[in-house]
Amino acid sequence: MKTRVERVDPSRPDERVLAEAGAILAAGGLVAFPTETVYGLGAHALDVRAVQRLFDAKGRPATNPIIVHVPDEEQARNLAADWPADASFLARAFWPGPLTLVVPRAPTVPSIVTAGAATVALRVPAHPVALELLRHCGLPIAAPSANRSSHLSPTRAEHVLADLDGRIDLLLDGGPTPGGLESTVLDLTCLPPRILRPGLLAAARIEMILGPVLRPSDIRESNHPEAKDRPSEALPSPGLLPRHYAPAIPLDVAPGDGWLRVLELCRQGQRVGWLTYRSSRGENHPQAVIVRLAPDVASYSSGLYAALRFLESARLASAPLDRIVVDTPPQGDDWLAVHDRLRRASAP
Ligand code: TXA
Ligand code: MG
Repeated sequence: MKTRVERVDPSRPDERVLAEAGAILAAGGLVAFPTETVYGLGAHALDVRAVQRLFDAKGRPATNPIIVHVPDEEQARNLAADWPADASFLARAFWPGPLTLVVPRAPTVPSIVTAGAATVALRVPAHPVALELLRHCGLPIAAPSANRSSHLSPTRAEHVLADLDGRIDLLLDGGPTPGGLESTVLDLTCLPPRILRPGLLAAARIEMILGPVLRPSDIRESNHPEAKDRPSEALPSPGLLPRHYAPAIPLDVAPGDGWLRVLELCRQGQRVGWLTYRSSRGENHPQAVIVRLAPDVASYSSGLYAALRFLESARLASAPLDRIVVDTPPQGDDWLAVHDRLRRASAP
């Protein structure tokens, strides 16, 4: 299959291109498009064969359910067997935006989408291209991140092509995605609600609306009073595998001074990529490639995957790097998603 690429203005996408993308989706094809978080790979969510093609294109295990994207809260309700009051409060506060709500699934949603689960994950994306596409085609769109399974999510059109060229029908190139990390996935089928995947919307913002919610660390530490009763749910979201969002070469998160770790590895003869957010002290080494990100959480999140993909394909004397070293990012609620992704990227 040949993958066609159409450039679109990210703030005012061309109606003709959206209509064409909508027609491909309606006919069971696969279309990648930018969202405010990362690029998604869309398929008509109610078309079982289209969703099967989506799993095949990504090499995604059938056990990992997919988020369904809709243009507004009303369409979300149509796909839910129950729409709790908390869902309405959150939808009004944060949709369109990087929050995914897990609610009981309506029978119209095929079980392939939810990997057999009785729940469905729903989100209204804030990017004009994604939102206008959803409004245009009038279909619920199942869309995981547009990467091969377990690889880094794509934040630029070229990342999508690197992973999926020849496997999808159309790519809408709307330039870099602004957020850079995925949406926050919140399970509303339990009390208190729990965050299955930390993401761009900080937990504290959700708590301003709902009161306390469980964070993944609360669930992992099974001495938490809410977690005690369900030890079997230590891995609550099927997609949250230990190794995920990972570059193709080993990655270390360096405690302390990352540069010292880089020098140590260079001394051992390794070629090393260093991802740092500290200001330059003039560090340089012929065996090291250095990438800097700004130290504020929005810029860091927005540039993280592109930086890791750059280091993944960097060459020194025409050889790939042996290892990527990343400085431990700052602590705090806002950085939860960054820590989560780096932990998975560095898992063996
Ligand atoms: O920002 C995002 O969420 C992006 C853009 C494209 O919207 N999408 C995305 O999709 O990151 P994906 O498939 O890469 O990650 C979806 C996550 C996975 O961890 C999956 O297991 C979880 O959401 N998920 C989906 N449906 C679920 C369900 N019914 N119950 C629990 N977790 C679910
Ligand atoms: Mg993904």
